[in-house]
This record gives sequence, C-alpha cells and structure tokens, in this order.
Amino acid sequence: MTKAAWLEVNYCLFLHRGRQGGILLRYPEELIDRIAKQTDLVGLVKQYVDLKRVGVSWRGLCPFHAEKTPSFYVHPEKGSFYCFGCGEGGGPFKFLMMINGLSFPDAVRELAGRVSIDLPALSHEKVPTLDGRPLKTVLYEVMDKAQEFYRHNLWADGGKHARQYLTDERGLDPQVIKHFGLGLALDSWDSLLRYLGGLKYSDRTMEAAGLVKPRSSGAKGFYDAFRDRLMIPVADPENRVVALAGRTFGKSDNPDSPKYINSPATDIYIKGRILYGLHQARPHVRAGGLIFLVEGYFDLISLVSAGVKPVAAVMGTALTPYQLSSIRSMAKEVHLVFDSDRAGEEATKRALPLLYNAELNGRVIRLPAGHDPDSFIRQFGPNAFFDLADKAADIADYYVSRLVKSPQTTLTGESYLVSQAAEILAQVPDGAKSQYLRNKLAEKLGISKDHLEIKGGPPKHLGPPPTATRLPTGPDFDPMAARLLKHVITHPESAPTLKPDLKEIWPDDRTKPVFEAIVLQLEQTSVLVPERLRFDDDAQMASLISGASASGRLHDAQESVMLAQNLIIKLKSQYSRKVQKELTQAVREAENAGDQELARRLLAGKLG
Ligand code: CTP
Ligand code: MN
Repeated sequence: MTKAAWLEVNYCLFLHRGRQGGILLRYPEELIDRIAKQTDLVGLVKQYVDLKRVGVSWRGLCPFHAEKTPSFYVHPEKGSFYCFGCGEGGGPFKFLMMINGLSFPDAVRELAGRVSIDLPALSHEKVPTLDGRPLKTVLYEVMDKAQEFYRHNLWADGGKHARQYLTDERGLDPQVIKHFGLGLALDSWDSLLRYLGGLKYSDRTMEAAGLVKPRSSGAKGFYDAFRDRLMIPVADPENRVVALAGRTFGKSDNPDSPKYINSPATDIYIKGRILYGLHQARPHVRAGGLIFLVEGYFDLISLVSAGVKPVAAVMGTALTPYQLSSIRSMAKEVHLVFDSDRAGEEATKRALPLLYNAELNGRVIRLPAGHDPDSFIRQFGPNAFFDLADKAADIADYYVSRLVKSPQTTLTGESYLVSQAAEILAQVPDGAKSQYLRNKLAEKLGISKDHLEIKGGPPKHLGPPPTATRLPTGPDFDPMAARLLKHVITHPESAPTLKPDLKEIWPDDRTKPVFEAIVLQLEQTSVLVPERLRFDDDAQMASLISGASASGRLHDAQESVMLAQNLIIKLKSQYSRKVQKELTQAVREAENAGDQELARRLLAGKLG
C-alpha cells in the first residue's frame, strides 16, 4: 500500500470512528490499494471539474472552496489531488466522499464497481437495511415504481381529465409532459398501496419512502399520501426519483386543500440539497455557463417547454449553499427569476450572501407585477424572456435599489438602513464583489464606505459603549460560537471553514482559545484531529471538546461543510448586529441629548 493510500485510509477511519464506534473498515488493504491504482483519477475528477493539463498534472477550479484562479491539482501518477487554496487533498476515495457526501465504504464500493473489482461483504458494517435489503436501494426502487405507476395512470383512460388540465390549462405538449415524467395519483385511498403491495413491497418500505401514511390512532394500516393530484417526480443529480410532489387540479383544486403535497425528508431525500430539474438542465447549463433559478415546478416546466433550457427550481424554499455548490462546476452566472411578489423579493435578497460565498455572479430578472416565470413566458414568449435576461440587474444593484425604498426622514430610520447594509456586508467574503457592493451601499446611503467596514471591531470613534452589557457577565459561552466549534470537532472535515480572520469577530473569550487552537492545527497539518486539542487547565473547555468529539456524526462530509458555512454566516451577522446596535444606541443618545450634529457625524462615519 502506498503511503498516500495508507494515510487516506487512516483519515477515513478517523472520520468514521464517531459514527460507527470502533472497527469499521474490513476491506483488505490490498484490495483498497488495487481499486485506487486502477482508478483513473483524472477521469473521475473530470466528471465534476474542468481540468486542464499542466505538465504531468491537471489543474482546475477547486470544487471544495470558492476560487477564481485554479489551485486544485490532480496528480495521476501519485493518484492524488490537492488544493493549494483550501488544503483539501487525498486520493480517489476521499474525492468521492467529499464531492458526493459518501461514507468511506460507499466510496470504496462505488469505485470498485467502476473498475469491476468484486468486494467481499463487510461483516462489521452497519448498512441500514429494510426488509433485509440495503435501505437506500429499496427506497430508490420503490420511488421508481411509484413514479411509474403514477405515470401509467396519467396516460390510461382514467387520466383524461388530468391530461386535459395539463394541455388546456397549463399549455403543455404531451412531449413535455412525458419529458418531465408527470403522473397522476388517482382519487383513491389505497390504489398505490395495493399496487406496490402486489409487487411485494412492505407497508414499512412505502412509509419509509413517504408514499403512504399510517391511519389515525386506533385504526390499523396505511393510506396513500397522494390522492387526486398531478404528480411531479423530483430527481437527484443522478436522475433517480427521490421525491414526489402532488399538485391539486380540477375538483381537488379548492381552497381547502394545500396546492402542493411534497414528499417528506427520507433517507434518500434531504430537502435543501436538490434543485428540481437540474439533471435535465445540466448540458444546457454547462454549454452557456449560466443557469436560471426559479421558484416553482411549473415555472421550470413552462420555461423548458418554451425553449429556455438551463433552468432549475428551488421548490419554494430558501436557496441553500448546497444547491449552489451543485451548480458551481457548471455555471458562473446565476439569474434569479423569482416571483414578482414580496416573498420573491425576500428570497432574492437572501440569496446575495450565498451567491457571493459561492463565488457566483448573481443577476436578477424582474418580472412585471403579478407575474411568475410561468405566466410571463406563456403570455410574452421566450424572446421577451431573453430580453429581460439581457437587462437583468447585478444582484448588488438590485439589493441596493431595494434597500432604499422610501426617503428616510429620521436618523434612526437611516441608521436602520446602515445596519442592514453592514449586516449584508458582514456576510459576504472580501473581494472585488464585496468592494463593489460596499461602494454602492455607501454611495446610496450617503456615508463614508469605511463606516460600513465591520472587520476589526466596532468603529473606534464611538467612544465608550452606551451600556455596560458589552462586558462579559459570566463564564458562559456564546451559544453560536460553541455550536460552531462543536460542529467542526464532530465533523473535522468542515474545520477548514474556520478562517483565521474570524478571530476578529469571535464573540467570546472563553471559546476563542479553542478556535485559535483549531486554526493553528490546520495551519500545521491541514487536518483537524480533535484528540490533539488539549485544554486540561480549563475543565469546561475540555468537556466541551471531549463531549463534541465523543458524540456521533450527524452529517456527511459535504453537508457538514455547508452547515459550518451557515453557522459562520450567522456568527458574522450576529457580530454585525451587535456593532450596529451600539451605533444606533449612540445615535439615539446623541439625538436625545439634542446633539443632532454628533448624531449626523456618527452616522456619516466622519468622527475620529
Ligand atoms: N410550494 C409548496 N407547497 C405549497 C406551495 C408552493 O411546496 N403549498 C412550492 C412548490 O415547489 C412550488 C413553489 O413552492 O412549485 C412555488 O409556489 P407557487 O408559485 O405557488 O407554485 P407554482 O409551482 O408556480 O404553481 P402554479 O403555477 O401551478 O400555481
Ligand atoms: Mn408560481
């Protein structure tokens, strides 16, 4: 076994110790080595990253952190990858684990399959099973069967009214309806239950897939979760059906029933990970380096049907970093096309820091009032849509224009805007984009842009804090900081998200040494080994660490990185809120003291 492979196995062992408590890996080392050697690492990585040859290696944009100049290298001879930007590195197994959020054994199985090496069964492995088969396999299968059943219903005689709704009321061609695999859940309590039962799937399996629900207390048995609805299959990036959505139509379309019923989260469906339609969009997104993001299923179906192909839908929930990471390797430009209502506007604003953190260029397509992408394209056609796309505002400009909606008359109103501006800036990473946003905000608010700078602590010119609450009052940890530390200790692969510059805004002095020790360790070894964090003289801190490292993993690698990023965004905005609160307080006090001049200068950031 090569040294790199040995290190990797140990690293992976370490990653999984928490979850599986002890002995986990029983594939013979020789076998793992052989799989690694036979794997074409460049070919594997190329499925996710655009690689260009440089000498004996290949180089591209790192899929594990945001960057503009490529510092991610693949060395085919060594069978390893390394990113000089974020320090991630390893062999083929680690790559697959990180990019697809797989466990080590799953990554081994995946690669073994690719190079056609048979693997022995693992005796110690706890693969969750259902009815004696691997849980996930069963779930993929039963979802596929359910989707087939619904699709069959739609095209059978009994589906005429549903087909009519789709063609006449939604303006869809049969071809498009088939392309999206739309289906029909019959107006029945048990048609799916009986169909799947006939195929020998247990009620337990159907329930685990979210297809049936237990009857209310007392009664035995289950009933179909989707009844009398149009069915929309939701596929994962590998085009496996992982969820279903059922929309009311015809007589079921009444105010008493929710417009959509969606699959619950299951072992194969983590909400917030999937973008609807991404699989079909992929080649078109790649070709243009651009993706349109819409909110709803029918927005997407309508756009695609009208010829706008590079599009995916967030399914009515907030955009997540995970969703963005799934498009980063295909597109640099994201056009948000949310509904022209208040919710759409909020969703657009919330997307800004996420896009900046993912190093994606965001633009906002604004639809005429009352329209969503579906109604717009059906009324005005694709050319009008592309015209709007050409005119799409940069998301920073959009944000700024929405921020200052009405003239602010009172200073406190103004300081509220300043605090909003500073809060958004606190959430975006430094760079050309954040500079642009900062300039725009400062210009619009008529204040010095230094004033919007929150790094390096509260503005010095504010003088003593307005209240004494700023001083630490007890031995307590900041809850958010403690949560973040616990998270990275339990999920060490997410530790590199802790960048040294967080030190300036770290909210409490109790947990700060832990943060610093982690950063130091990462600098030295680029891998966090929680056992090596020593805080013997601080019992509370020691127990925070040991408690965290003893508790099991809750998330896979990719998800844990996303969660760490989320916590950091929260930490930053918490800090920014605190600073701005102090500013607001100082302004208010100046106003109360009748010192308008001081208040104005505080706001304009011209003191000191
Ligand atoms: N949504 C949901 N449950 C609801 C309403 C909405 O899950 N009760 C999600 C769906 O993913 C939906 C998206 O939010 O596609 C956008 O909602 P909306 O605009 O109301 O739905 P559309 O898909 O546009 O449906 P339609 O055009 O048929 O009204
Ligand atoms: Mn809609």
